Amino acid sequence: MSAHDPGIQRLHELRHKTLHGGGEKRVAAQHAKGKLTARERLELLLDPGSFEEFDAFVTHRCTDFGMDAQKIPGDGVITGAGRIEGRVVYVFSQDFTVLGGSLAEAYAARICKIMDRAMKVGAPIIGLNDSGGARIQEGIVSLGGYADIFLRNTLASGVVPQISAVMGPCAGGAVYSPAITDFTIMVDGTSYMFVTGPNVVKTVTHEDVSFEDLGGSRAHAAKSGVAHFTASDDASCIALLRRLLSYLPASNLDDPPKVVCQDPEDRADPELDSLVPVDPKKPYDMHQVIRRVVDRDSFLEVHAAYARNMLVGFARLGGRSVGVVGNQPAVLAGCLDIEASRKAARFVRFCDAFNIPLVTFVDVPGFLPGTDQEHGGIIREGAKLLYAYCEATVPKLTVITRKAYGGAYDVMSSKHIRGDINYAWPTAEIAVMGAEGAVEIIFRREIAAADDPQATAARLVQEYREAFAHPYKAAERGYVDDVIEPASTRPRLIRALSRLHRKRDLNPPKKHGNIPL
Ligand code: HXC
Repeated sequence: MSAHDPGIQRLHELRHKTLHGGGEKRVAAQHAKGKLTARERLELLLDPGSFEEFDAFVTHRCTDFGMDAQKIPGDGVITGAGRIEGRVVYVFSQDFTVLGGSLAEAYAARICKIMDRAMKVGAPIIGLNDSGGARIQEGIVSLGGYADIFLRNTLASGVVPQISAVMGPCAGGAVYSPAITDFTIMVDGTSYMFVTGPNVVKTVTHEDVSFEDLGGSRAHAAKSGVAHFTASDDASCIALLRRLLSYLPASNLDDPPKVVCQDPEDRADPELDSLVPVDPKKPYDMHQVIRRVVDRDSFLEVHAAYARNMLVGFARLGGRSVGVVGNQPAVLAGCLDIEASRKAARFVRFCDAFNIPLVTFVDVPGFLPGTDQEHGGIIREGAKLLYAYCEATVPKLTVITRKAYGGAYDVMSSKHIRGDINYAWPTAEIAVMGAEGAVEIIFRREIAAADDPQATAARLVQEYREAFAHPYKAAERGYVDDVIEPASTRPRLIRALSRLHRKRDLNPPKKHGNIPL
């Protein structure tokens, strides 16, 4: 057969038709909004020449509302497989230029097919979302299509990484696919997510709210926590997606990729020796600690704008991926509250599911007090983080930089809940509570009876601090494995990590646990 063969010619003609989405006018409208088309996004996402599309000739079967005349090959979504940094991924990219990217029966079947293949071969699933929701003309079969996808999102959870980029509308029940996936990236200004839009909100609650304020990237990055990342435009969203993937294994049966480490593994950092202020009430920025310890420029913060009293993100130590969790003394003194507990719990469980070791930096004065917290369920929400750390069987390394008080000490990857290597800095204070609180409780009568209650309280606080506000009581019991010079943290963690590389630990067999949701 030659290129002039009628069969091949027909194939070329038909293939040509699959490439143009909803036509020039709609493509121009997409560009005018500052958005790329579904194919342009795939070109940026995947290694050049690596994309193979499946089902490009699929069309819908709907005959209602004049739909017979509106058949566009591919039906408004592009699906297939490609490579990112040489590794196989499965992708779908919703095409807003075809019927508003609305999801219908054949369209959903395309997505389900690539999800099934990704599960079979153990490869990440990436969804680029830009859709007006259920295709109104197809009605209930669209709902069935969504449910088919939700089921696969759930079955794939913990088996292959799933990442959603929201690059346009994502509304109604459609939001539940990104919500089940592991990470959601939203593009500033052009994306929004909500279950019910501003019009319904207005009718039901009489609130006036814009699309952006209700469900834009900032609302979901800072307030709801639905978005793990935001990006300023489509191109940076896709660059971020590629970067995120570089920390992750292809599936739960693989190790995360190891990269060549340019940053010396034995690099000590003397600045760390004086980074924690002597005054225990003074804040400092835990980002500084993390950045100085991990491989240079490797920290990718997740949920940076949400629950800022807790830091989570991916980094590398000696070229190996790690999940970093850290209390942030610069925000709410690093207290654990509802949002921080939830944020860290989900991150810990992701890392555990995908064989990514956890490195936890601890400076936590306890749980945030208050009726908001108690009535909002800090008991249940804090338990999520405790549960997540307890069940995690990946290597767990902990560094206590300063406070590790009370229940929060137990929660933050303590030795008792299977922390593998727990280090403390000499500035660590591992105690049941802070000195002031402790003295107030146990010496209340003595202070009240003293000639100078203030001076007595100050003396007792000082005595308590000398007796308990250090790491050595914990070290005496083996609750920390060593007290280390802060400067040596990086080489110590890298050595520990390489010793733990072959760690095997199992939880008892069960259908699944019952994490306090
Ligand atoms: C069919 C749709 C569509 C839909 C948009 N289009 N949404 N076609 N079904 N759901 C079509 C439009 O008719 C139009 O066709 C083209 O897509 C672009 O839409 P515009 O409205 O011109 O674009 P824009 O002004 O940017 O507005 C985007 C939009 C708006 C805000 C998303 O289209 C919109 O409100 N759509 C309806 C959203 C909705 O109610 N969806 C169903 C929700 S129920 P032409 O031919 O003019 O280009 C749902 C349930 C999911 O999703 C449940 C899961 C369990």
